[in-house]
This record gives sequence, structure tokens and C-alpha cells, in this order.
Amino acid sequence: MNTVVAIEPSEVTLGEKGLSLPLNGEQAYFNYYWLRDNCLSSFDSQTRERTFDIFHLDGAPVPQSAAIEGDNLTVLWAGDGHISRYPLSFLSEFSSAKPRHDPADLPRRAWFADHYPNMARFSQAELKADPQKVAEWIKALIVDGVAIVSDMPDTDAALTETVELMGHVRPTFFGLYFDVRTHINPTNLAYTAKALELHTDTPAEEHAPGMQFLHMRANTVEGGRNLFLDGVAVANDFRDLYPEEFKLLAETPIPFYCEHDNYDMRSHQRVIELDQHGNVSGLTISQHMLDVSDLSQEFLDSYYPAFCRFGRMLQDDKYVMKFTLHAGECIVFDNHRIVHGRASYTAESGERYLRGCYSDRAEMRSTYRALVSEGRFK
Ligand SMILES: [Fe+2]
Repeated sequence: MNTVVAIEPSEVTLGEKGLSLPLNGEQAYFNYYWLRDNCLSSFDSQTRERTFDIFHLDGAPVPQSAAIEGDNLTVLWAGDGHISRYPLSFLSEFSSAKPRHDPADLPRRAWFADHYPNMARFSQAELKADPQKVAEWIKALIVDGVAIVSDMPDTDAALTETVELMGHVRPTFFGLYFDVRTHINPTNLAYTAKALELHTDTPAEEHAPGMQFLHMRANTVEGGRNLFLDGVAVANDFRDLYPEEFKLLAETPIPFYCEHDNYDMRSHQRVIELDQHGNVSGLTISQHMLDVSDLSQEFLDSYYPAFCRFGRMLQDDKYVMKFTLHAGECIVFDNHRIVHGRASYTAESGERYLRGCYSDRAEMRSTYRALVSEGRFK
């Protein structure tokens, strides 16, 4: 059983709770539990899941011996005599407590009002035919937060097919899909021909949906231009210009609601959202779904001016991209980042029909990682 040879105590030092070894010119320390739990044999090659059960060890894992053999650290465990071999490259990845490399953690590129000609575009056919194009599409959605899919067939199925290239349709409390056209008894401003102020969707949900898909099926009306802006671009500028007000908007959860005869959805959200690096990742904003504030009236003395200044900044021509989404196009965007609205239109002037749905950002990033990286098991 004991095949560990060439033990050189000067190379690996066994301590009480972990061992040290030279790695990349420094001494690196590894905890024994971590080593035992992450032995390559702990993972089933077929399911790729950990099958080792560290909860039921007889005692704390302790090596009988350990040595560097070529490009591996070999550990002979006391008790069961199990032998673990760890590639030094694997140990290097975890020797300092840096988050594991994530190919989907791409820096965002802020964009401004002139972004329309530069917006990433893909035809549905090329996305369906080529996984590399899907990777490029998702990359644009992570970096820019918005892209257009063109040449969409005029069918309900076309929208589902596009979503399923990156994930699944994710329901909201309105259901799986929504149809935006003028309604006789509207329950939502979107279902009228009036202007739709700049907003992110369903802020009253505990977890507002991540990616939004709007498939223009028909658009022959006068007016109704689409308004899109990058919340990251505005919030970054706001941070530079008004750091104290930025802090208020990034730290204070405020109430949102959506209420009608059969639903009463409520949540508290921060207007400016930060990611794990402290960078702006997006916004939650909607005046028509902002609830009556339950914050202290004294606090509102500071909050409201900041909120209004930010709301006005969102409408600045520097940021708002104005264009017409044509029939057959589907705009896909990050609902936590891209703020959108619509100019009013003349309902009698033609037909306007937009069909939409949502999917999940985490699922989109998962698809991206699977497309572009090796992962741990390939
Ligand atoms: Fe919307």
C-alpha cells in the first residue's frame, strides 16, 4: 500500500492542522481537511460530483507522510492508508485565497447614447447553427448588457428557441411570456400607447428576472421609439460626481410594489447594485412601481434629492440610445443593468406587437463557461 517514496522532509513540512511546501518560490500552506476532501478520488468521474464524505471520518485527517514527486504532492493518510496525489498546478490555484478563476466574470464596458451602430447583432439562424456564435452573443450580453437577435421568425416558438440557446424561460408573477400591445382594460402602462418612462422590469419581485427578451413581431405605428440606456454608465458617472449620494442609492433598500385585483407583490431593492468587486453591476429603478416610502422622514431629507438627481441623470441625452426595434428583431438585455422605456405612439396608425419573456443571468453565465472553458473535469 505504501508506495510513497523519496520522502524529503525538507520539502514538505507536516504541521498540526496542515502542511507546508514550496510553491512558486514561496511556502504555501494547505489544511488537512481541505487536502483530504479535495483528493482527486473524491470526485466521481461520471457524475462529476464529490462522493467523498468528510462528515464521517473517524477523526481529523492526518498524513502519515507526504512528499513532492515530480509535479505532484503525494500524501499517505494515516488510518485508512489512502494515497492522494495533487498536481502542483492544482495546488497553486488555491494557495492564496483568491476566488476561483471565472471566465464569465468579464469587465463591463459602459456605453452611451451613440451605441446603436455598435450594438452586437446576431441572426437567429447563425446562433442556432454555431455554438461559438452563442458564446460571442453571451459575451456581449455580459460585457455590454445588450444585443440584438435578428431574422426572428414571426412565431411564438421563435422567442422560446432563442431563449433556450442560453437557458430556460423564467417565469415572473405575470407568467412565462407577456404580450405588449394596446389593451382595452390595461393593468400596466406598457399596455397603453402612452410613453413608458425609463425603468427596469418587475422590481417588486424578490429576485427580479435577469435577462429580458423583447421580440418585435409587428411595428408599423407612428412613434413608439425604443429608449435604452446603460445603468452602469450613468451610475459610474454619478459615483464620480456625487459620491455621498451614490452611497445612499447603493446602500439603501427602498420599497417597490406591483398591485392589482389578484396580486400584491412587494420588495425592497437598492437602486444601484454593486458586484463582488464593488463595481456597479446595475440598477433597479421604476417610478411607476416605487411604493410609498417607509423610510424615516428625516432620512428622506437626504435620500429624495439624491434619488431625483439620479433619475434626472438617467434621462440625459448623453446616455439614452433611441432607435426603432423593427419587426423580426429581438432585443436581449440585462434587466438589472439596462434601463428601458418607450416613446408614446399613435395606436390607430398601425400595429405594434411585442412579445417578451425573461431568463436567468446565472444560467446564461453557466452556458458561457461551458462553451468557452475546460472546467475541472474535461
Ligand atoms: Fe419594461
